Amino acid sequence: MPTPTVPRSRILGTGHFLPPLVRTNADLEKMVDTSDSWIRGRTGIRERRIAPDGMVTSDMAAAAAQGALEMAGLHANDIDMILVGTVTPDMPMPATAAFVQQKLGARYCPAFDVSAACAGFLFGMSIADQFIATGQMRHVLVIGVELLSRVIDWTDRSTCVLFGDGAGAAILGPSGAKEGDHEPRGLLSIAIHTDGTTAMALNIPGGGSASPTSHESVDAKLQYVHMKGQDIFKQAVRNLLSASRNALERAGMTKNDIRWVCAHQANKRIIDQVMARVEIGPERVLMNIERVGNTSSASVPILLDENLRTNTIRPGDTVLMCALGAGISWGSAVVRM
Ligand code: ACO
Repeated sequence: MPTPTVPRSRILGTGHFLPPLVRTNADLEKMVDTSDSWIRGRTGIRERRIAPDGMVTSDMAAAAAQGALEMAGLHANDIDMILVGTVTPDMPMPATAAFVQQKLGARYCPAFDVSAACAGFLFGMSIADQFIATGQMRHVLVIGVELLSRVIDWTDRSTCVLFGDGAGAAILGPSGAKEGDHEPRGLLSIAIHTDGTTAMALNIPGGGSASPTSHESVDAKLQYVHMKGQDIFKQAVRNLLSASRNALERAGMTKNDIRWVCAHQANKRIIDQVMARVEIGPERVLMNIERVGNTSSASVPILLDENLRTNTIRPGDTVLMCALGAGISWGSAVVRM
């Protein structure tokens, strides 16, 4: 994948949505055999948000998108393409992106889902960057959204303590940067990867062509997330480390050039181990896992938007992004905001 010497696209606005209902570790202690100290010690999570009955994935996505449109100073009619990173769509067909288009009142434009689990937002940004670079699209709405609470087995302590619901969004548009510009704003590097040899380490096995929904599949709980946690943990540390180093190299930067790290909030220990090896100190690593848990594809854009809105991330700041999830798929980027 070529590295742009001049950024072709940049983030014009971001937004996020978190449902109001909070489920704490103390709440989970009443549901499964777990403890607040185990969850906090192993993951860094204290609480997560849960979508109320009746709310669907596209509702959260549209709410996050509204915030991004407002920040960008754009209207729904300005959107040329909608990409929704999600593994928890409203339904298998049609794409959740189609419902988002309808809910935003956007005009007819290509709208499709990207299935790259926790890396879905970075996959979406990479696709958006390509379309903007060719001039085919001007404003691309990229959303990461998950309603994981509906695909979690709430009797399985090994998974139910990890995940939360939420949505994050960004509008990408042309960077306007030219050769020779000093510190141009935009995507300075972005790369995405998949290693399908480990595809079964994290999956929802039921409901597809392999195991269509049946009484038997439901009895066997195939509609829920199944995960080999330790396998994913090791893959995450190894691949996020190489992806972070690659992102810096492709952007022609060193660790010292990065102001903030905005990493997928899967597990505080994964982030700590990767950043210790990249040698970026915790004071530059943004975190919200304690409050929101693992929101999969929504994780990076929620964290980004929260920190833009508090002015923690300021215009011109360089941000290293990285995420890994089912597939196993992962990605990394360096963005000057
Ligand atoms: N409470 C108390 N004990 C628990 C719990 C719990 N909630 N869950 C598991 N345990 C127990 C296990 O049964 C085991 O007990 P045993 O030793 O008696 O057998 C013990 O704790 C250790 O279990 P491990 O699975 O070895 O715990 P580990 O330290 O690996 O932590 C975790 C588990 C947090 C899941 C970790 O492996 C992890 O974070 N993995 C990566 C998750 C991830 O990044 N997913 C990718 C993104 S998600 C996506 O793409 C949708």
